[in-house]
Amino acid sequence: MLNYEKTLKSVSALVRQAAKIVKSRDFTVEEKSTKDDIVTSADIGVQTFLCDKLKKLLPESGFLCEEKHLSDVNHDYVWVIDPIDGTTNFSRNINECAISVALLYRRKPVIGAVYAPFLDFIFTAADGCGAKLNGKPIRTSDKAFDNSLFCTAMSLYKKEYAKVCNDIIFETYMQCNDFRRFGSCAVELCYLAAGKCDLYFEIRVFPWDYAAAYLILKEAGGVLKGLNGEELLFNKPTVLVGANNAENYKKLEEIVGKYLKSTPYYEEL
Ligand code: IPD
Ligand code: CA
Ligand code: CA
Repeated sequence: MLNYEKTLKSVSALVRQAAKIVKSRDFTVEEKSTKDDIVTSADIGVQTFLCDKLKKLLPESGFLCEEKHLSDVNHDYVWVIDPIDGTTNFSRNINECAISVALLYRRKPVIGAVYAPFLDFIFTAADGCGAKLNGKPIRTSDKAFDNSLFCTAMSLYKKEYAKVCNDIIFETYMQCNDFRRFGSCAVELCYLAAGKCDLYFEIRVFPWDYAAAYLILKEAGGVLKGLNGEELLFNKPTVLVGANNAENYKKLEEIVGKYLKSTPYYEEL
């Protein structure tokens, strides 16, 4: 059996090494599916570096990574990697972007590391061992719904879902304190874990966006599920509803369920 805490230390060290590629800010930009969907040479550099080192760390493992359609998931252990979450921020010199690495064991996250190099925040968790920010334990906030800060987004890559997002965001906004759109799902979920914000909704996110942060948030006492309270499967894009505690999760889930009856897409990775 793998020692998760020890492996997490090695992963954190590798993620910090990979961040040198990001910090150099030396990159070129290419468009992917649409003009809004970009990849930089730094994304590719980080992913290549991490895949090589993580395969050496755990030779029997597979990979699910955002770039180059890398999906080799028929293994007990699978690394789920977003080399840069928040690429648009990165390309515009905005600090909210992060390298996100999770290790799944039989489809459940057991290790998570999210490193935001320009903020020097490293969020980490190993299954059953709590969540940390720069080595110090973190917990979700105890804010009530009407005092909550809500992180969200508007379906950037599929603008046909923007209207329903707008309805959900508007109703939530009217019942909470305020909302934010930082532009990195991984960072926002880690902010939720650390009590910097309290609610999260996004209509279509991929396992590499949230797998590491899912474990960090769960270990910090938070809740993160799909639509109608579905447990996350880490093998396809999903709706994400998250909160600092079960009570606020239920309230947000009710608002989301009012406007979104079923997931409006289906893709297996
Ligand atoms: C995106 C960011 C963004 C979220 C999108 C993601 P990327 O990831 O996490 O905050 O709203 O859904 O795709 O493309 O920057 O890796
Ligand atoms: Ca991402
Ligand atoms: Ca990315």
